[in-house]
Amino acid sequence: MENLSIEAYNSKIKKVLVTKEQIDEAVKKAGAYIDSIYDGRPILLVSILKGAFVFMADLCRAVTVPCEIGFMCAKSYYEGTVSTGVVKITMDLEQDVSKYHVVIVEDIIDTGRTLKDVTKMLKMRNPLSLNVVTLLDKPERRVVEFKADMTLFTIPDYFVIGYGLDCGEHYRNLPYIAEYSNE
Ligand code: IMP
Ligand code: MG
Repeated sequence: MENLSIEAYNSKIKKVLVTKEQIDEAVKKAGAYIDSIYDGRPILLVSILKGAFVFMADLCRAVTVPCEIGFMCAKSYYEGTVSTGVVKITMDLEQDVSKYHVVIVEDIIDTGRTLKDVTKMLKMRNPLSLNVVTLLDKPERRVVEFKADMTLFTIPDYFVIGYGLDCGEHYRNLPYIAEYSNE
């Protein structure tokens, strides 16, 4: 990746799947939906790093209920663009979730393993309630059963980059979501 020319780097961005405008509109709706569920009750938004950091930054500004933010780092190991099935919590949340209505903020659900593990772990800590909002879902790729409470975009089985999502740690800063070219 380091030795790619800028032309080669950009040529990996195959096709825009979700534009910045579509994301902005969907995030606004998700914020309003969260407001309607919690109806003034304080929440804790928990972002799964690193992929969800951009979505978290926008979503937290789209809610108006009192809100705290927290971060957890779950690493699902990849070989290139293929999941190895190994999920590891590399940084835990600092808050005691038993005091909070928790909303997990995730970038994408692929095999379902990350969220299955993370929600199981957080439920054992007895949060007041637990909901999951995901920016993207690739239901065709599911290996373990998992359904988010709120999904902004359902996409086909493409490897995608941008708006926080990476390939080999690159492309997270794209303001839109694009299909990655493996060629
Ligand atoms: P899961 O555990 O297989 O559901 O994978 C979830 C994690 O894998 C996400 O939080 C992403 O970090 C990563 N991931 C899955 N699909 C993609 C993709 O298309 N692009 C970039 N990262 C992905
Ligand atoms: Mg990733």
